[in-house]
Amino acid sequence: MKILILQSSPRAKGNTAWMAEEYKNAAEAAGHEVTLVDVAKKKIAGCLACEYCHGKGEGKCVQKDDMQELYPLLAEAEVLVLASPIYYFTLNAQMQAPIQRVYNTMNPAKMKKMALLLSSYSPGVYDAAIQQYKYLLGFWKAEDTGIVTAKVDEQKTDETRQKIQAIVGNL
Ligand SMILES: Cc1cc2nc3c(=O)[nH]c(=O)nc-3n(C[C@H](O)[C@H](O)[C@H](O)COP(=O)(O)O)c2cc1C
Repeated sequence: MKILILQSSPRAKGNTAWMAEEYKNAAEAAGHEVTLVDVAKKKIAGCLACEYCHGKGEGKCVQKDDMQELYPLLAEAEVLVLASPIYYFTLNAQMQAPIQRVYNTMNPAKMKKMALLLSSYSPGVYDAAIQQYKYLLGFWKAEDTGIVTAKVDEQKTDETRQKIQAIVGNL
């Protein structure tokens, strides 16, 4: 399957990047075609709510920023993996921007499955991110293939690697 992983931590060697890389390695080993994008390195602004995309733009966004690189990847992806650190009890801003910019088409056209990778310092801080993910599953009519969370003492461990490998097995 064609898999798009959006990794939103600005820390290139951080815990979320590690989780995303582990997912990529496991998915490639299983024969999937994987594209991993570090969205925190991209210049992606918030949605302007100008409605250009739903009018004159005919599905195209008026903002010519790095989201233009992501639109074709989102259009082709069959699986979308969101990998985010928890900032203030939810997905970070770098992840919210690309999610909200999908307003132009309302949903990634071929995407049927999703997965969620979250990293945080503390335990018990995942509810808001998981709730948003569940709403996105419903809104985008996608199937959940698994959620892996890693608090500080679970980061970059064999146990977390195995959990990630297990959800790749759900594809
Ligand atoms: C701005 C900011 C807000 C954060 N908010 C939380 C939080 O609400 N709960 C928590 O457990 N950790 C919080 N953290 C810690 C990160 O989620 C945690 O260190 C995570 O593993 C970072 O992932 P990374 O290594 O991929 O950047 C916050 C970190 C930052 C920089």
